Amino acid sequence: MDIKAANEADLPALIKLHDAAFGTPHEGRLVGDLHHADLAAISLMAMEGAAILGHVVFSPLAIEVDNETVLGLALAPLAVTPARQRQGIGTALMEAGLVAAAQHGWQAVIVLGQPRFYERFGFSPALARGFQTPFAGPYLMALELSEGTLSGRKGKIIYAKPFAELGAEAPQTVA
Ligand SMILES: CC(C)(COP(=O)(O)OP(=O)(O)OC[C@H]1O[C@@H](n2cnc3c(N)ncnc32)[C@H](O)[C@@H]1OP(=O)(O)O)[C@@H](O)C(=O)NCCC(=O)NCCS
Repeated sequence: MDIKAANEADLPALIKLHDAAFGTPHEGRLVGDLHHADLAAISLMAMEGAAILGHVVFSPLAIEVDNETVLGLALAPLAVTPARQRQGIGTALMEAGLVAAAQHGWQAVIVLGQPRFYERFGFSPALARGFQTPFAGPYLMALELSEGTLSGRKGKIIYAKPFAELGAEAPQTVA
């Protein structure tokens, strides 16, 4: 399996993959919206030959803490094609994405998802608890890539427009 960067030409296949993995059109639409708005800062595919087995997007979000803005990324969505789930593909995409995020100087990552899956990568619901967002709750988690950026602090997470447009239809987990 190879991990490679996705681009606009891959979008139709990627949207199909997310639709199949989530069983709703929300996440596929979000992938298209993020790419079209040039917000897919990190967009990685897991490939086996020409087949796309999984995909993840990280997009910029602002985390306002005290009088500064932390350079954060939203991790969403992440999906693996149904027939190939639980074979380590999601883990490989997460690890590659987080390495790329750290290398590019992003300071923190925010995800809305199942703690059972994301805590293994260091994400913490407790770390996100001090931050206001429309998605606050037990599924909101944060990871610091730059130590001390979020820990013990309070503030506000401001998602990019495509997330706001998920609106009332937003599923409880978008990663
Ligand atoms: C979640 C997902 C991306 C994980 O990718 P994957 O390649 O299947 O996962 P991996 O094989 O790398 O890791 C497997 C681990 O993920 C856990 N896992 C898989 N799907 C999960 C889910 N929906 N919720 C919680 N944990 C999940 C498994 O329990 C397993 O952990 P274990 O080994 O401790 O039992 C993939 O299953 C998927 O696309 N699911 C459908 C979309 C979805 O529900 N996304 C929301 C995730 S919050």
